[in-house]
Amino acid sequence: MRGRFITFEGPEGGGKSTHVQALSEWLKSQGKTVVVTREPGGTRLAELIRGLVRDEMDDPPVTRCEVLLFLAARAQVVSQVIRPALARGDWVVCDRFSDSTFAYQGYGRGIDVQLLKNFNDFVTEGLMPDMTILLDVPPEVSRERLAARQAATSAAGDRIETAGEMFHRRLREGFFELAHAEPKRFVVIDAAQPIERVSAAVQTAVRRLLA
Ligand SMILES: Nc1ncnc2c1ncn2[C@@H]1O[C@H](COP(=O)(O)OP(=O)(O)OP(=O)(O)O)[C@@H](O)[C@H]1O
Ligand SMILES: [Mg+2]
Repeated sequence: MRGRFITFEGPEGGGKSTHVQALSEWLKSQGKTVVVTREPGGTRLAELIRGLVRDEMDDPPVTRCEVLLFLAARAQVVSQVIRPALARGDWVVCDRFSDSTFAYQGYGRGIDVQLLKNFNDFVTEGLMPDMTILLDVPPEVSRERLAARQAATSAAGDRIETAGEMFHRRLREGFFELAHAEPKRFVVIDAAQPIERVSAAVQTAVRRLLA
């Protein structure tokens, strides 16, 4: 049987990376073979592209360039990692995927969302997640968590993390609109709750796919 493909989405600091790991451990405990990956990234070339879009450069990519870099990375991880894993029957858990492009470059930066969907279909050849978990947090919570994480790791915020308040509001609204348009695929979780409660909500949602 083809495996299952689960993506985590949402604003920075919602807990995607935290819950990608937690879910993957839980799925393993349920006897599944799990492949964890992330976007942009997941292959050597895609990780190099990740470095290009995240680096603080004196010559940052313009929005259209940024779109194509993210899509180029996605093409690699879909064909080299995600599709082969699903074909083997493995479960794939991915930290961000297509919806981040629609939310960030579409709703956030103002590129036509339908145009992005067309480009994205070219890149994914129509591959869609079986379930997308939207970890929703208000911008204030996002900011607090990122500040705490940066203090802990002494890492500076990247270009997108430091984008303005209005951008973050559009982003959150964008994720809501995407979820609203595809209620069967999306599960929206209030990620301002304590980690254990978010984990429990994630497991409840994913049990539907296990059944
Ligand atoms: N429910 C929660 N309550 C309190 N702190 C949390 C919660 N979820 C995550 N955190 C903490 O918030 C920080 C951000 O979490 P994490 O890195 O998982 O978010 P993310 O969505 O992957 O962010 P990014 O988009 O920047 O990669 C981490 O320090 C994490 O431990
Ligand atoms: Mg993360």
